[in-house]
Amino acid sequence: MTYSIAQLIENRQGEQYPLHKQYLNTSMARVQAIIGFDKLYIRGEGAYLWDAEGNRYLDLLSGYSVFNLGRGHPMVKQVLQEVLALDRPNLVKMDCPLLAGLLAEELVKRMPPGLDAVFFANSGADAVDTALKFARAATKRPRVLYLDHAFHGLTLSTLGLNGGSKFREGFEPLMVGFDAVAMNDVAALEKQLRQGDVAAFIVEPIQGKGVYIPADSYLPGAQRLCRKYGTLFICDEVQVGMGRTGRFLCGEHWSLEPDIVTLSKSLGGGYLPVSATITRRRIHDATFSRLERCQVHSTTFGQNELAMAAGLATLHVLDEERLVERAAKMGEKLLARLAALQERSEMIAEVRGKGLMIGIEFKPPRSLGLRAAWTAAEMAQKGLFAQLVVMALMREHRLLTQVGGPDVNIIKLVPPLIIGDAEVEMIASAFEAVMAEAANVSGRVWAQSVQLIKHALGG
Ligand SMILES: Cc1ncc(COP(=O)(O)O)c(C=O)c1O
Repeated sequence: MTYSIAQLIENRQGEQYPLHKQYLNTSMARVQAIIGFDKLYIRGEGAYLWDAEGNRYLDLLSGYSVFNLGRGHPMVKQVLQEVLALDRPNLVKMDCPLLAGLLAEELVKRMPPGLDAVFFANSGADAVDTALKFARAATKRPRVLYLDHAFHGLTLSTLGLNGGSKFREGFEPLMVGFDAVAMNDVAALEKQLRQGDVAAFIVEPIQGKGVYIPADSYLPGAQRLCRKYGTLFICDEVQVGMGRTGRFLCGEHWSLEPDIVTLSKSLGGGYLPVSATITRRRIHDATFSRLERCQVHSTTFGQNELAMAAGLATLHVLDEERLVERAAKMGEKLLARLAALQERSEMIAEVRGKGLMIGIEFKPPRSLGLRAAWTAAEMAQKGLFAQLVVMALMREHRLLTQVGGPDVNIIKLVPPLIIGDAEVEMIASAFEAVMAEAANVSGRVWAQSVQLIKHALGG
């Protein structure tokens, strides 16, 4: 008897939300329904998704930056099919697989000088966890510093580096000796580093939750201080790497030369979970310091053939289609269009970003009627106005976006790097229309506010 996944999908299409309510995250399924995101997507290609009725949606979330190449890239697909057809000897474990060596070689070519040793794992949090273990082993120091607003994953160790209380709540106590410092406060950082017990300082060169960009002098200065006090400087490029900000690594905007870089998300070409922790040989070797320690850090699916092949194909496509340059160019155009809108909209506080990592931050309106509506919404739940805009972008323009973090009035845009002028126009005109509508307190944007407030207050 054959088993067909296509047949199964056809037979059960439409059951996804009830299934999730019953067997998976009930709250998540409920939220999708409340905000009007409970779509039945049936296809994804490039920068778009399609639902069962044939409606097309522009995806500005990219699976949280997994689809830098767009969905279903034919080159990645072809490479994965080739690997399957070859029946490669996958995950032998007691060997040294070729594709892992080749992907490591390609990644090292794209790193700042001296970063020449790679560890492969499966997720961003895995990569960060690896970086922390490597840093402790190499420095023999216990502590780790991270930034306010930071996001480095949601496992118990990476949660200890989370700069937002919403994520931490309910899971404490977290890691001892992991301490937050404020972005751009060099003196506070030096005070901590001077204690001489800090293994690593970890940063996202641009922070994902809120799209916070440090002052131009901050990261180079922090790196200098880390060197001075023997602390390793880690750039978590899980979200902003792989061309997202118009450079292969976001740290290149400030010519950073970190001791450890983490990559993940679109490294798997939108198909496979994979991550890499890339560091200096001596730092890597401090963990695998003797022959009997050659497996003290490992993960079962690290180096698997499909993930390695997807990584190689992805790097090839990024180069061949010049997607890093494209992200820079399209990002500039989109930023310019949104910045022009900011001048005309009393509720846009700031538009910021680099390449195709863009944040739009909202502020309270001046006019009295609007301000009352804003205050009621914000008292019920911080960031609720941004949620209303996200809902309107979906409802009226079929744009898939998300509020850029807990308790913030920020929308983050991370479209696939393949977008062109047509998509820039769609995004800019959708925002223009929604912000015009939001200026009318009895219009469609605010109409959803009562329902959201009710849910926020537990109604
Ligand atoms: C900067 C950064 N680091 C780490 C992670 C964690 O990655 P994962 O969800 O694959 O564990 C994320 C996820 O969004 C991230 O943005």
